[in-house]
Amino acid sequence: MSQTVQQLLQTARQQLAQLVPASEASIEAQILLMHTLDVNRAWLLAHATDVVPEKSTQDFTHLLQRRLQGEPIAYILGYREFFGLKLAVTSDTLIPRPDTETLVEAALQKIMQPLQILDLGTGTGAIALALAWHAPQSQVTAVDASEGALRVAEKNRHCLQLDNVTLLHSHWFSALANQAFDLIVSNPPYIEAADQHLSQGDLRFEPLSALAAGEDGLADIRQIITQAPGHLNDGGWLMLEHGYNQAEAVQNLYQIAGFEHIQTLRDLGDNPRVTLAQWLVI
Ligand SMILES: C[S@@+](CC[C@H](N)C(=O)[O-])C[C@H]1O[C@@H](n2cnc3c(N)ncnc32)[C@H](O)[C@@H]1O
Repeated sequence: MSQTVQQLLQTARQQLAQLVPASEASIEAQILLMHTLDVNRAWLLAHATDVVPEKSTQDFTHLLQRRLQGEPIAYILGYREFFGLKLAVTSDTLIPRPDTETLVEAALQKIMQPLQILDLGTGTGAIALALAWHAPQSQVTAVDASEGALRVAEKNRHCLQLDNVTLLHSHWFSALANQAFDLIVSNPPYIEAADQHLSQGDLRFEPLSALAAGEDGLADIRQIITQAPGHLNDGGWLMLEHGYNQAEAVQNLYQIAGFEHIQTLRDLGDNPRVTLAQWLVI
């Protein structure tokens, strides 16, 4: 039976309310219908009593079913906004998080002149592309161990026409022998392997290799902090995103490796989220 825009939205809202809070259910229903019909929110409001064509109703129902099975909205739409950039995402990539914008802001504050920048574990390219966009004179190298993620990052780089970004397949620094940078940034995996959140909500759908980092969640951070001094120019900075409860451990790791000016920044939710430090050659 043919249904109007408002009928479809109402049914979807009720079903989605089983999965997410009511306020989000309403927004998600609209997002899925806007995506299906390729219209904006104003159009939906102005055409509430329009009958939706049968094919579009089927497409919408298909997207809704995927969402009801828990698949994250970003994977269903195929994109996510990050730091003002529209980025393609697939199940090969982590979905960029608002928390990571804290890292980008901190990095931009260090860029007073063109720098050589490295993004470790680039995923969609979120951090690297945001930095390259806002610091067009700087050169950004972005690496990932996942070929699938690198394909998505390359697509995003190409769409944004960012010629100051080089993408490389590398296990952390493995493909970067003899290369040094002024600024190294990373949002590495940092969740404890046994954390039950990995099997809940959106995380179930994201690549485990982008999330889990050994028993204490610090395996990758430990490796990056230990190896970074070999790839930092004198006075260069290393900035790492980490779990809300890992700041003290990360500060210790920086200290042991001989970094100076260690500082932790808080994210939008007021959690300690990014720890940075400077490498000074004595
Ligand atoms: C938490 S995700 C971050 C993705 C992206 N930077 C962001 O902030 O949205 C971590 C990324 O590190 C990559 N990764 C995991 N282990 C790696 C390794 N040994 N070397 C390079 N990249 C790795 C994963 O493939 C994933 O893309």
